[in-house]
Amino acid sequence: MEKDLDQIYRQGLKELDVVENADDLQDVSVRYLGRKGILTQFLRNISKLPVEQRPGAGKKANEIKNLLEERLRQATEKIEPRDEAKDTAIDVSLPGRAVACGALHPITQTNQQICDIFSRIGFDIAEGPEVESDYYNFEALNFPKDHPARDMQDTFFITDDIVLRTHTSPNQIRTMEKTSPPVRIIVPGKVYRCDSDLTHTPMFHQVEGLLVDEDISFGDLKGILTTFIHQLFDEQTSLRFRPSFFPFTEPSAEVDILCVICRGKGCRVCSHTGWLEILGSGMVHPALYENVGYDPDRFTGFAFGMGVDRIAMLKYGIDDIRKFFENDMRFLRQF
Ligand code: DAH
Repeated sequence: MEKDLDQIYRQGLKELDVVENADDLQDVSVRYLGRKGILTQFLRNISKLPVEQRPGAGKKANEIKNLLEERLRQATEKIEPRDEAKDTAIDVSLPGRAVACGALHPITQTNQQICDIFSRIGFDIAEGPEVESDYYNFEALNFPKDHPARDMQDTFFITDDIVLRTHTSPNQIRTMEKTSPPVRIIVPGKVYRCDSDLTHTPMFHQVEGLLVDEDISFGDLKGILTTFIHQLFDEQTSLRFRPSFFPFTEPSAEVDILCVICRGKGCRVCSHTGWLEILGSGMVHPALYENVGYDPDRFTGFAFGMGVDRIAMLKYGIDDIRKFFENDMRFLRQF
């Protein structure tokens, strides 16, 4: 019986000698001292021994149990040395962990800058639906029935009569229907077109502007837009008004700024023209006044619309619009 116990002890020590990690240790502990462990079984069976052997066996078995427990403790210390730092007080001089903090997307930032400038000049901010009827998106804006923008190739149709708005201009009509002059609004929002390449995404952002009152002239349009561009870029930014056509303005003009990359010398970004097209604008077409019940002989006004994504690309020198929507943190953290 004593021999059995010695045998158990020696075997236990041998196994402890080769443990490599906390799991091994746990295995040895369970095998010898667990509820069904070798030593535990031995202790339990002592009651079955002849009466005279019981005290000696019990004493020896308990000694061996204590010895094994001690060896287990030592082995544990070797594998997981005590972490001194855990025992000492907190080191208040250690720098804290930085809290990861979100930031506004570059397009949101640009959008806010545009809205702030117009708010300061006295424009109110309005909004409208992204799912729009043919009437507001095209009809009321004087688009003829066969205009290419009304083609499936260019516009996302939901039904024959309902589209994802292709521009923020429907809000010119929506606003004028609800209010009488003077009207001074800008409308930021998402717009949708069937288009996708380096400079186009199927969803992008526009800001629409509309000012209607008595005696508003093309000079007012030029003044307001020049002020805007100088505030958005800088006072040195030259701009030019180039005749253009939109169904809802007459006359119409596109506004170019001197290329912010090459300052007019010609580069890839401006297609070597030295100029960048930045917004569309014009005097509100009298047909729109008729559609909303304004007196076209009394009121005049101007409208404009710009692409926020494109302006953000120019402001931050980004050459691929798709980067804005890939959610790559390495890209976004730069802003
Ligand atoms: N809606 C036009 C577009 O998406 C932009 C535009 C041009 C808006 C001229 C206007 C405007 O208000 O007067 O291309």
